[in-house]
Amino acid sequence: MATPGDPVLAVKLAALKKIFRPASPIDDRELFRGRTRELVKVIGAVQELGQHAVVYGERGIGKTSLAYMARDSFRQTSMGPSLAVRIPCSADDDFASVWRKLPPRLVSELDLLEPSYAEELSSTVDRSKSVIDANEITPDVIARALHLISSRVPLLIVLDEFDRIGDLGSPTLFADLIKTLSDDLIPCTLVIVGVADDVDGLISGHRSVERALRQIAMPRMSPGELREIIVGGFAALHERAGVKITLAPQAESTIVQLAQGFPNYAHLLAGSVGEIALVQGLENAGTDVLALALKHALEEAQQSIRTSYTEAVSSARTDAQFSTTLLACAMAKVDELGFFAPADVRDPLTEIVGKPRETQHFLHHLKKFSDEPSWILEVRGEGRKTRYRFRNPLMRPFVYMKGLKDGYLTVETGSIRPKSK
Ligand SMILES: Nc1ncnc2c1ncn2[C@@H]1O[C@H](COP(=O)(O)OP(=O)(O)OP(=O)(O)O)[C@@H](O)[C@H]1O
Ligand SMILES: [Mg+2]
Repeated sequence: MATPGDPVLAVKLAALKKIFRPASPIDDRELFRGRTRELVKVIGAVQELGQHAVVYGERGIGKTSLAYMARDSFRQTSMGPSLAVRIPCSADDDFASVWRKLPPRLVSELDLLEPSYAEELSSTVDRSKSVIDANEITPDVIARALHLISSRVPLLIVLDEFDRIGDLGSPTLFADLIKTLSDDLIPCTLVIVGVADDVDGLISGHRSVERALRQIAMPRMSPGELREIIVGGFAALHERAGVKITLAPQAESTIVQLAQGFPNYAHLLAGSVGEIALVQGLENAGTDVLALALKHALEEAQQSIRTSYTEAVSSARTDAQFSTTLLACAMAKVDELGFFAPADVRDPLTEIVGKPRETQHFLHHLKKFSDEPSWILEVRGEGRKTRYRFRNPLMRPFVYMKGLKDGYLTVETGSIRPKSK
């Protein structure tokens, strides 16, 4: 067991935290795992003149990380200096305010270029700023500003968190801009990144630019890809910090099942296992270490998820049943958009509590979960057609992890299931 404050341990922990990073996207190609098809598509788009890309999918699925890989590939294939900027969008933004963020971002990119070249380009960036500042900001004005820069240096712009843009008219203006860039052969690539079930939910008017806009749907990660994050992560730790930690196959497969396709949970759990193993000086980590890691990971999970879980399961009457119903919701069979019907909750709940449960026993729980203040579930349809899904898909793995930690679930012959009562 290492002592707290041990400087050697601190170095190893720092290396571990750079590898397993549940809260930040991957910008290091060596740590980027899987996603081969999506990478090929996005790289194809950034390398082809007149092509742009839209990357969409669930929250926390790895969209920004993919955009960083596209940026890397763009820089490498540009043969010479290039400018690649990421603009994060927010709820206060509209078309104009997004583009007002461009000049300062370009200036900080210039700092990364060779000084003589940066100096040469800075007057171009200034001119594009004047174009943006002097005019009402329309797609044509932005196309002009982008043309100024991209005629001097290859230019890539990632518009991240695009779904957060508050102004409803903006998505059409972005589609118009893509059309102009593409028709006028302006050598600037846009990569639009955001949370959405489909492209329609992200950018309206995209049909008019279908040929110019490569659509990249980010699915949940496959078990193989999640395994790559875990195994590849520990291999990187060995390489970078000389520490060997081997995970028992059952611990590895439990992490993969708990993560449910979300890479950040693979990072969170594998990172917690790694931390415990480093502190305890273990080379092999089994299910006992994973059990400790689970507790740690639940405490380290996103604050918003933890708060929203607590709000959902707490009650004036100490009704412990809320947590079991929520767990059954997390285990319910879902359609391709993640929705389940009340009837889908019945069987898992019956298994969890060990006695027959009918819809009338828990329907009021579903109502509470989908109402103020919890809002943990979102509702579609009415009456018999009512369907529910987790508003934040990252809640489902959290509820699973909690169920395992609290003893409602167990790992039997390699799979997670309700503990028999
Ligand atoms: N291909 C990958 N290989 C390894 N780790 C990944 C990969 N993609 C994503 N991750 C990890 O998953 C987590 C979420 O990634 P990222 O921030 O890119 O997702 P996102 O879809 O942009 O999330 P959000 O919807 O919150 O913006 C991060 O911890 C990141 O390090
Ligand atoms: Mg992101």
